[in-house]
Amino acid sequence: MKPTQELQRPNIKTSLPGPKALEIINADAQYVTPSYPRPDYKLVADTAAGVWITDPDGNVFLDCNAGVAVCSTGHCHPEVVAAIQKQVGELIHLCGTDFFYRHMPEAGKKLNEIVPIDGPTKTHFANSGAEAIETALKLAMFHTRRQKFISFFGSFHGRTLGALSLTSSKKAQRLGFMRQALDVVHIPYPNRFRHFATDMPSDEDTVSRDVIKWIENRLFQTTTPPEEVAGIILEAVQGEGGYVPAPKAFVKELRRICDENGIMLIVDEVQSGMGRTGKMFALDHHEGVKADIVCMAKGLGSGMPIGACTARADIMDWHKGAHASTFGGNPVALTAALKTIELLEGGLVENSREVGGYLEAGLRRLMEKYDCIGDVRGMGMMLGVEFVTDKETLKPDAELRDRIEYACYERGLIILGCGSNSIRWSPPLILTKENVDVALEIFEEAITASV
Ligand SMILES: Cc1ncc(COP(=O)(O)O)c(C=O)c1O
Repeated sequence: MKPTQELQRPNIKTSLPGPKALEIINADAQYVTPSYPRPDYKLVADTAAGVWITDPDGNVFLDCNAGVAVCSTGHCHPEVVAAIQKQVGELIHLCGTDFFYRHMPEAGKKLNEIVPIDGPTKTHFANSGAEAIETALKLAMFHTRRQKFISFFGSFHGRTLGALSLTSSKKAQRLGFMRQALDVVHIPYPNRFRHFATDMPSDEDTVSRDVIKWIENRLFQTTTPPEEVAGIILEAVQGEGGYVPAPKAFVKELRRICDENGIMLIVDEVQSGMGRTGKMFALDHHEGVKADIVCMAKGLGSGMPIGACTARADIMDWHKGAHASTFGGNPVALTAALKTIELLEGGLVENSREVGGYLEAGLRRLMEKYDCIGDVRGMGMMLGVEFVTDKETLKPDAELRDRIEYACYERGLIILGCGSNSIRWSPPLILTKENVDVALEIFEEAITASV
């Protein structure tokens, strides 16, 4: 059974936001924290099915964001809903910290089969991406008996204090929090479209070599002796930083550096995992390279709150009581995760690759046609489009990006910015080629209306 697909186009009937949506937005302003980083447009969801979101005024939007890469199987996939409903009638909670239930070893066994780690693994279950990262940080520190970490500029790993020490995609995430909890040094991300020294395009080999040199010749020789580094945290496709894939040569070299120095390679697959890139994990695009620790969340539970940190079994050598969480690995969330993985393996990873390729080809056609699109990049259904003032100077155009994002919303297409001047495409992995045709038509209209 597949989620509703019949509707082929968005249907916007009121001015946006409509009157009922506005009531919710106003109540939110009164009672809810103002710290959420919401975009300029205001989408209020009432119900959703498949790739369609309906707001309280009856407007229907085509969702190419999936609740920020979370609703991997589409909204309210009937099989996910049925599995959750059945589980809710059987066992909601017991606290895996203190007791046992079948879902934990079942999910751990499944992750052991699919994560890009060599040899047997063990998993700690959490409730979010940031929590999965916290687990990885504590584990790496415990196992190596070291305290320093290396992270990348442009990275996003969450907003809890440990994860925040790694995060560096926007000033707002750090502003006001001053001293960081952990000892983290940031290095440039190997972005072939914007080499860190020039902000201009380079080739993958050059940018890879230059970042590796930065680590080995600069960091390791000055502020960050390798024997004090517990882990390097990598997004194989940088997410919030702009949907930027890391070059293959770079990831291979990073693995070598970790091996030579006893450093844990922690791969953050929170946004890029669970089929999003057309393979189960973004690291799967890097043949022969495996992680020591992998963090997952977002698409893992089709919208149920779940995070997971899977590590080599010999690394997960900490003592009883060293790390746990009351709700982490809740039976309902784990049921959603197991059903999600079943659906991913049953065709959605393949659909992400195939329909994602179709979307990418369409975006590349738009790049040829419009001077304001500087770069299209990514894999599967994790695609970034970078906006520039013109193709000669390649100056980032953040305002144009924001206008296009808004113009899409007005026309019923939900996409979201990332980086300073890019738009991310992270649709539900059930997206069809017909959906792509409609989305691209709206995207092009939004571009012509905004330049
Ligand atoms: C790569 C990555 N890591 C970690 C996180 C944090 O996840 P959460 O918001 O569930 O704490 C995110 C969230 O966007 C992410 O994209």
